[in-house]
Amino acid sequence: MSELMANRTCETAGCNAQANLQCPTCIKLGISGSYFCNQQCFKNSWPTHKILHKVAQGKSGVTNGTDEVFNPWPDYTFTGSLRPYKTSSPRTVPDHIPRPDYADHPEGIPISEQQVKLASHIKVLNDEEIEEMRVACKLGREVLDEVASIIGIGVLTDEIDRIVHEACVVRECYPSPLNYYKYPKSCCTSVNEVICHGIPDMRPLADGDICNVDVTVYHRGYHGDLNDTFLIGNVSKTAEKLVNVTWECLEKAINAVQPGEKYRELGNIIQKHAQANGFSVVKSYCGHGIHQLFHTSPGVPHYAKNKAVGVMKPGHTFTIEPMISQGSWRDKCWPDNWTAVTVDGQLSAQFEETLLVTDTGVEVLTKRLANNGQPYFLDKKL
Ligand code: MF3
Ligand code: CO
Ligand code: CO
Repeated sequence: MSELMANRTCETAGCNAQANLQCPTCIKLGISGSYFCNQQCFKNSWPTHKILHKVAQGKSGVTNGTDEVFNPWPDYTFTGSLRPYKTSSPRTVPDHIPRPDYADHPEGIPISEQQVKLASHIKVLNDEEIEEMRVACKLGREVLDEVASIIGIGVLTDEIDRIVHEACVVRECYPSPLNYYKYPKSCCTSVNEVICHGIPDMRPLADGDICNVDVTVYHRGYHGDLNDTFLIGNVSKTAEKLVNVTWECLEKAINAVQPGEKYRELGNIIQKHAQANGFSVVKSYCGHGIHQLFHTSPGVPHYAKNKAVGVMKPGHTFTIEPMISQGSWRDKCWPDNWTAVTVDGQLSAQFEETLLVTDTGVEVLTKRLANNGQPYFLDKKL
């Protein structure tokens, strides 16, 4: 889910005051964050801050040798070397499969989510609802297992989308991303510098890529949400370290989940581990409550010193989905208004699980059953 639940603190080093002023150039360039508490702080930060505008416009002197064939946005300057490819025609879900409200809304608006948007109330699920979540989440994991079995060098991200779509349909699931705020595909495939919400297209995965596949299924009225980052062929040592550290960040955060813990504590745990390894934490996208609604309270930021509201109680269901970047934590959006990329074009990785707070701790509803419970990237046979 996006920044609505993120707090805004001044970006001047060491300031940390509440901040509502956003840099106008950053707004124009579509750069996230860049909040300052007052004009003076903005002015003081300007000499270093303005460099960011150059970096985000690809004017930092770094070039890539991409041979462009299809370029839907000739005036757009990419931050890294990944490019969009053509996309396939829309996929449909048979009528007998129950659909969320946004599936048939012309603008993809989730009316049911918006009705409770301002409430910071966190739903406590009863035993029946918890059982429905267990079923949906288990099916979601099976769908991602199917992706793991086919992903590799030369596979188009659109083929991954087809596999996800078909695996959902045979399990009587609606693929939750489809038509959510008009999102055009059935899953998200985020390659290399893409942080999240990459749209599956005709690009074949290449040796050395990292590719996150994010699956959400809607089954009998409940959503289950999970993702994994896959190593494609032989990846660089840094890429492998980034993916490994990102997975460890999620593991450490999950281990802290128990009744009475504050949601805001998870970001401290995640950032501590990312930073100790020289990586940064994306701030614009957060974990979220999930059940009959795809994205709802609590908002779960992954960065330190956040001001997330809420204390964990048995019966809460939510995701943790840290996005960890190699260089800058800042994100920028492609003109498709979905694909979030790192502002400096360096790599970003992510892992996600849907969790249930139990009386004694946590149940990972989307846990891996195959592969010895190990994440797919540790199995190098892709
Ligand atoms: N699955 C993503 C998440 O973890 C959300 C994708 S929404 C979409 O929250 F519209 F981009 F598909
Ligand atoms: Co999620
Ligand atoms: Co997800």
